[in-house]
Amino acid sequence: MARISPSILSSDFGNLREQIRLIDRAGADGVHIDVMDGHFVPNLTFGPVIVASIRSATRLPFETHLMVESPEKMIRDFAMSGSDLLIVHPEARHDMHSTLELIESLGKKAGVAVNPETPLSAVVPFLEQSEMLLVMTVHPGFGGQKFIRDVLGKMREARNIITENGLHTRISVDGGVTLETGRISVEAGADELVAGTSIFGSRDIGLAISNFKSI
Ligand code: DX5
Ligand code: ZN
Repeated sequence: MARISPSILSSDFGNLREQIRLIDRAGADGVHIDVMDGHFVPNLTFGPVIVASIRSATRLPFETHLMVESPEKMIRDFAMSGSDLLIVHPEARHDMHSTLELIESLGKKAGVAVNPETPLSAVVPFLEQSEMLLVMTVHPGFGGQKFIRDVLGKMREARNIITENGLHTRISVDGGVTLETGRISVEAGADELVAGTSIFGSRDIGLAISNFKSI
């Protein structure tokens, strides 16, 4: 059974706490929070103050996906705001090793994300330190894009490396995930699905989550 982590990027921001309670009741396994700084990607979203303000709405783990140019400058604030897992990109301007060490030193879990055009080799050295490998199946920046199927090969490659090396890193898929693309991602080795539009854009959010959980 796949884990499902709804991305609140596509939620109704005016009712954010309610929306989070709803996905919690429906059986979500985590909350995916897309942080964008207007530089690394051309969009601007949540800061640590918002994350802190929704923290008490649920006990579900918060996965904070940092699509920002200088992640090391923001780690501390997002850790303080109640994030449990902090996900960073090798494509950003920072030293991956020291950022991952900083995350660990704050008692948080670390994740690494990889853009569709970035080879897996950019993150392989960091898998051992990472709880999660977030495989991007869209170009980061916006919700509602189409799943890029070419990335499936990279997902299989990641599954093999993780299994062969006895690592515990879980593979999560982010971008354009629907029931169909979610299913093929799980077949390619994914453990967790991140979905925004397919959950918050659906008429029955609870039903959408239980459908995903049955994959
Ligand atoms: C893209 C974000 C994704 C996105 C997923 O930059 O990292 O988490 O919100 O949204 P959908 O499911 O709509 O592609
Ligand atoms: Zn994301």
